[in-house]
Amino acid sequence: MTTPNDPNRVIVFDTTLRDGEQSPGCSMNLNEKLEIAHGLKDLGVDVIEAGFPIASPGDFESVQEIARQVDGPIICGLARCNTADIDRAADAVKHARRPRIHVFLATSAIHREFKLRMSREEILKRAIDGVKRARDQIADVEFSPEDASRTELDFLAEVVERAVEAGATTLNIPDTVGYAVPTHYADIIRHLKKTVRGIDKCVLSVHCHNDLGLAVANSLAALKEGARQVECTINGIGERAGNTALEEVVMALRTRQDYYGLTTGINSRLLLPLSRKLSHATGMQVQRNKAIVGQNAFAHEAGIHQDGMLKNPNTYEIMRPEDIGLSRTELVLGKHSGRHALRQKISDLGYHLSDEQLNKVFESFKVLADRKKDIYDADIEALADTQIHES
Ligand code: KIV
Ligand code: ZN
Repeated sequence: MTTPNDPNRVIVFDTTLRDGEQSPGCSMNLNEKLEIAHGLKDLGVDVIEAGFPIASPGDFESVQEIARQVDGPIICGLARCNTADIDRAADAVKHARRPRIHVFLATSAIHREFKLRMSREEILKRAIDGVKRARDQIADVEFSPEDASRTELDFLAEVVERAVEAGATTLNIPDTVGYAVPTHYADIIRHLKKTVRGIDKCVLSVHCHNDLGLAVANSLAALKEGARQVECTINGIGERAGNTALEEVVMALRTRQDYYGLTTGINSRLLLPLSRKLSHATGMQVQRNKAIVGQNAFAHEAGIHQDGMLKNPNTYEIMRPEDIGLSRTELVLGKHSGRHALRQKISDLGYHLSDEQLNKVFESFKVLADRKKDIYDADIEALADTQIHES
């Protein structure tokens, strides 16, 4: 596998096509998955988790096709910790230039007792056997103790150490049910780094769910503690409230390079186009105020903000719209807008009004904006035309 040599380089592991696709309303057909996989490659992700090959013949086929056709990133297939799953995943990814098997097994007491009905000893044995079986077929093996954040810390450390001994090359610590909070998750990562023998030979990875709206914050807290792979999805799609949003974690690292000192291989200018492509493929729209890729993320309506933006965009924007693939910031005209933004819009529409004409248009614009929610260019043109004819 390619572990970037730079210790400050974060590996971006995208699971849009696996954890994302398995959530309600997000399923895609083979062609759509291939298109997204090519988009992820162009974006610069390091690992594509292409699916869960044992889940269905369609899932197997899409992992296999992505492994055959998408050259560049590591292509990964998910498997539970049993022979059939692992062999099926190995078969699906074997044509990839750089294949990976991701083996997972739940470790928390609630999962052991009620889901798996297995003792701690049985879990340890199953984990070791699974990792070994995967390693016998593929050199790059990731192991995940599912529900890690609710697992007793001593047992979690033991399972992880056994997985390292058995040959896991990446150790992923999932917050499967989005239960962790940033300081708690950071404590887990710090504890594992301190106590697990051999952990330095592996890449430590984080995988967060968003049930408390903390997936990105938890991922960043873990990266600050030394994790170097982040698992995420485009638009944050995923089970229940979703997974860590790729675009958010990448832009947080980039915008706050001063704080984290970490980099990724992502070409951020492709974030918005890929976000839109995914929405189109799944039919799942992004909420308007979603960070980075939402329609309002670079839009300003308040007069004070618009005035500041026109004087210097850094007053109210911490990222440049072009850095995420948006041509420019939008100054939305509405009842909160000021004269400066209206003047700019009128000039953009090709009008040259005197100060007096502009004042009159501004007055009629405020009356209109009070009764009309969306103000379009045509509305402004009508107001400007009326004013030109009247004066
Ligand atoms: O959330 C989770 O625990 C998972 C594992 C399969 C890594 O998605
Ligand atoms: Zn998950």
